[in-house]
Amino acid sequence: MADQLTVIVLAAGGGTRMKSKTMKVLHRIGGRSMIGHVLGAVGVLEPTRVCAVIGHQRDQVGPHILECLPEAVLAVQEEQLGTAHAVRVALEALAEQQAAPEGGTVLIAYGDTPLLEGGTLRWFAAEHEAAQAAVSILSGVVEAPQGYGRIVRDADGDVLAIVEEKEASDEQRAIKEINSGILAFDSGFLLDAIGRVGNDNAKGEYYLTDTVQLARDAGLTVTAFPVDDVWQTEGANDRAQLADLGRELNRRIVTRWMRDGVTVMDPATTWIDADVVLAEDVTILPGTQLLGTTVVAEDAVIGPDTTLEDCEIGAGARVVRTHGQLAVIGDGATVGPFSYLRPGTKLGAHGKIGAFVETKNAQIGDGAKVPHLSYVGDAEIGEGTNIGAGTIFANYDGVNKHRTKVGKHARTSSNNTFVAPVTIGDGAATGAGTVVRKDVPPGALAVSAGQQRNLPGWAQTKRAGTPQADAAAAASPAGKDPDDA
Ligand code: UD1
Ligand code: CA
Repeated sequence: MADQLTVIVLAAGGGTRMKSKTMKVLHRIGGRSMIGHVLGAVGVLEPTRVCAVIGHQRDQVGPHILECLPEAVLAVQEEQLGTAHAVRVALEALAEQQAAPEGGTVLIAYGDTPLLEGGTLRWFAAEHEAAQAAVSILSGVVEAPQGYGRIVRDADGDVLAIVEEKEASDEQRAIKEINSGILAFDSGFLLDAIGRVGNDNAKGEYYLTDTVQLARDAGLTVTAFPVDDVWQTEGANDRAQLADLGRELNRRIVTRWMRDGVTVMDPATTWIDADVVLAEDVTILPGTQLLGTTVVAEDAVIGPDTTLEDCEIGAGARVVRTHGQLAVIGDGATVGPFSYLRPGTKLGAHGKIGAFVETKNAQIGDGAKVPHLSYVGDAEIGEGTNIGAGTIFANYDGVNKHRTKVGKHARTSSNNTFVAPVTIGDGAATGAGTVVRKDVPPGALAVSAGQQRNLPGWAQTKRAGTPQADAAAAASPAGKDPDDA
């Protein structure tokens, strides 16, 4: 496209039906806000400039828009006087920034249509330009047109007007072709027409849709292009609609990954955010959520019943019934079942984090294993080391957090406590039940538990008359109570 393309995104309205302290367009599906999805689609067009109109809760919405699209110009619409007023405010804000459209096309979109795709906008803008229209409407034919502006065409199919629901005659209300709200304008026409739209109508609002009449009156071309996939222009006004859109978005994302070579056993219980990246031959088992910017390499198997947010999973890794956040899992490693990977967990290739193990800020080397029932916080574990069952890395002294370092190829025994800060050397070992409070040199065996003492006949004397004492007596030499000897 040699000509300029300006995109104006309207997001000033209140969205009261959400009944939320969070502004409507900031509600999230597929790991992004609704307006984040729209701005993503807009970005595909590489527009010359983008202006977003904000009003309600603009302290929340403005910064979020700039996070999604730093080059966007924000226009503040103090009072929501209608869609034409919003566009006028946008054009004024652009002019103030010396960024007014100079020719080309101006596209209008809404901030609450998260399924909109860049390809659809691109197609629509191209059709509009090819038709040399003053105004083009992205329309849709729907079974339930209530609430939408209706596209009124003449006998030849030429677009005469958009009539808002409140202004429509009974006959017009029966029309099923609706205005999606996404419009394309010749910029020269828009700049001229926007100031001439009045508000003499049922809602007392400045209707952007009145520009159609203005174009017709000037003998200019108006076209409407129906989009088959009406989901793309659907907005969410309340949370039930938000969930519907979320489910449909997920269905589309999951389907796309299956087409790209990912096995998904149960698409209905698999949730994949828009920014997740999966390789070929990844397998996803039922009840799995892959969220945020999670990346999974080829041949990895994830699930069942696993949630991974912003995680990186290596090739051929196996992650079973796990909750993970900001964790990196190496190639061929195994995790789970019932593992809790907290931020800063890094497991080397072919390592293992096993059942009922919680890890946090823990770098676990290649081939190292923490197989059972342990907490590993603020730790470094060298390659090839095995941590015994039930080991606690005691990282917190009640005031500060400290680190534990375990060297390579160490063998620590069951039910140990490593009281940080402490270092266990390469090739070192510990006995069962050891509480490691001092550094263990390389190759040393650390034992902290006292010598075992046996008090003979303790059960028979101290627990006389109980099944315990009877069992002890029966198993003792000659079946006798040692006191009777
Ligand atoms: C609008 C269209 C209607 C179309 C429908 C599609 C007009 C007059 N009508 O109706 O033909 O079928 O959308 O959903 O354009 N907004 C602002 N500032 C305002 C008013 C609105 O930013 O002053 C924003 C809203 O936040 C919203 C969008 O514009 O994102 C649409 O506004 P809304 O009031 O919902 O328009 P509808 O009455 O639904
Ligand atoms: Ca609406």
